[in-house]
Amino acid sequence: MTIKVCLAGATGWAGSELARAMAHTDDLALVAAVARKSAGRVLGEVLGEPRLDGQVYASAIEALSQPCDVFVEYTKPDSARANILAALEHGAHVVVGTSGLSESDFAAIDAVARRQNRGVLACGNFALTVVLLQKFAESAARLIPQWEIIDYAHDNKVDAPSGTARELAFRLSQVRQPAPTVPLDKTVGPREARGASVAGTQVHSLRLPGFVIGAEVIFGMPDQRLTIRHDAGSGARPYVDGALLAVRKVATLVGVHRGLDCVLDL
Ligand SMILES: NC(=O)c1ccc[n+]([C@@H]2O[C@H](COP(=O)([O-])OP(=O)(O)OC[C@H]3O[C@@H](n4cnc5c(N)ncnc54)[C@H](OP(=O)(O)O)[C@@H]3O)[C@@H](O)[C@H]2O)c1
Repeated sequence: MTIKVCLAGATGWAGSELARAMAHTDDLALVAAVARKSAGRVLGEVLGEPRLDGQVYASAIEALSQPCDVFVEYTKPDSARANILAALEHGAHVVVGTSGLSESDFAAIDAVARRQNRGVLACGNFALTVVLLQKFAESAARLIPQWEIIDYAHDNKVDAPSGTARELAFRLSQVRQPAPTVPLDKTVGPREARGASVAGTQVHSLRLPGFVIGAEVIFGMPDQRLTIRHDAGSGARPYVDGALLAVRKVATLVGVHRGLDCVLDL
């Protein structure tokens, strides 16, 4: 059976790579796309891929006039929540690649998804090395009670912490809360020096030229330390296979699920 997909952000860095990959599958049909500057055009013309014959619309609401099974959200943090809720109200399952959604956004989305009996699969990072970082870190957190996260990205990235760092912190919070030796409110000096508290974990975001995107979790115990780190290069290819898998599997879920491993056999 062909899965009909609407892709929001189809002309962007990540979305365009995903759209081109979808054009070469037998089971996925990209029936509509969302991007403001290319609205009114056929996606294939914009991307130079003739197999993509879906229309580009300026908004998710307009694109959802084309019936779809799965809506993929790959725009920007400020438009993501409204797009996801609109897609759920239209009866689509949703794959979320966009970063920057908060825990309260996910709680609101979960309520609507459950009411609509639809799945939402949110992956701050679709890359396999990130999925493995998450799994290894969860195992470490079961044994080591103290950790912090460093979130690396290029200087143009507007959201902080990254979706990858947020998701990692959330997942570690499901294992346990870290136990810093000096409580944060007893910090001497600026509190910000200890980073942002995300789901109980201290996260330190670097935004500098020379970085692309990476995440590092450091576990510390007396006289020993464990560092687990993922780095991606400058292409969007690492995110394609995971996103395709999410599109194919999201209809098996109900409510919000975080991380690709919920549809992977790890
Ligand atoms: N989960 C993952 O593995 C993963 C991987 C890479 C990136 N990301 C995240 O995905 C998001 C997109 O990243 P990117 O680098 O691809 O960004 P990008 O290159 O700026 O692309 C954004 C896309 O969204 C469209 N867009 C932006 N705002 C919109 C709005 N208000 N309404 C309709 N369309 C809108 C843009 O087209 P117009 O400007 O023409 O509207 C463009 O097509 C970011 O949050 C990023 O952190 C996640």
